[in-house]
Amino acid sequence: MSKKVRKAVIPAAGLGTRMLPISRCVPKEMLPIVDRPAISYLVNEAFDSGITDVLIITGREKEAMEDYFDFSPEYDAALTAKGRAGEVEALRAEVSRGNVFFLRQKEKKGLGHAILQARSFVGDEPFAVLYGDDVIFSETPVAAQLIGSYARYGRPVAGLKHVPPEDLRKFCSMKAEAIPGAEREEYFVSDMIEKPAPGREYTDLAILGRVLLTPEIFGILENTAPGAGGEIQLTDAMAEYARRRGMTGLVFEGERFDLGSKLGLLAANVAQGVRHPEVGEAFSAFLREFVKTL
Ligand code: UTP
Repeated sequence: MSKKVRKAVIPAAGLGTRMLPISRCVPKEMLPIVDRPAISYLVNEAFDSGITDVLIITGREKEAMEDYFDFSPEYDAALTAKGRAGEVEALRAEVSRGNVFFLRQKEKKGLGHAILQARSFVGDEPFAVLYGDDVIFSETPVAAQLIGSYARYGRPVAGLKHVPPEDLRKFCSMKAEAIPGAEREEYFVSDMIEKPAPGREYTDLAILGRVLLTPEIFGILENTAPGAGGEIQLTDAMAEYARRRGMTGLVFEGERFDLGSKLGLLAANVAQGVRHPEVGEAFSAFLREFVKTL
């Protein structure tokens, strides 16, 4: 029987050079989607999926993330003085949903190296990985969807999407066969290739932002040599695991935004802005007028 998934790791130590100049002084994970930082959507997705312990892999100049998951006595006092004590309770509840741990990756040696830092936090349990740049809006939280696949097959899971051919070279293409009679769109994954040159891709299925791993990955990661870009690539280690034992691939339901890119940040704000309980209606009205000017 597969073990309960209680832990998640969010790698968020990257420099974010695609978000320059702002990333020099605001961590990209703290950029807002309307009124909440990107990182809060990831942490809430983990808690909404039944996870109790989240480890954020962080780095220098990113302390603002820690402050966000703390109480803020100055605001609490100011709100209480204005007769808005209810808001204090809501803010406190939002940052008290579970345990949020932080650990620094002292050298930025790649996503695989960031995950390796989580070894002692993970221990001998399965764990979800929510890539720090990828915010996904969905009916069922994507981490919960992956946990479902893990429960069904007992193997590590790659969260997948079908990707247009011209975009595949930016992602990791899966060698995958559909699982007959599967409840969802699920595949048996036997290999993968990171950033394939045209013609080298296996399928149009690529990992987008979520995986569920088991601790065996650490033994592989510690022996993984730097790959593309001179970085220790998580996908190189997952490819090795897939060749040895196989993984499950799940095409998840959800709308994914790359918050490490300017376009992704803008699109996420529009998508969430029109649904926002406070400003959604007014923002939609603004947008309807604005698009007429384009
Ligand atoms: P990216 O490939 O987006 O790298 O990392 P980056 O350095 O953050 O961004 P750019 O390309 O310079 O704009 C994918 C995920 O892995 C994390 C990042 O924070 C992001 O969530 N990461 C990457 C680490 O935690 N450590 C690393 O050494 C590299």
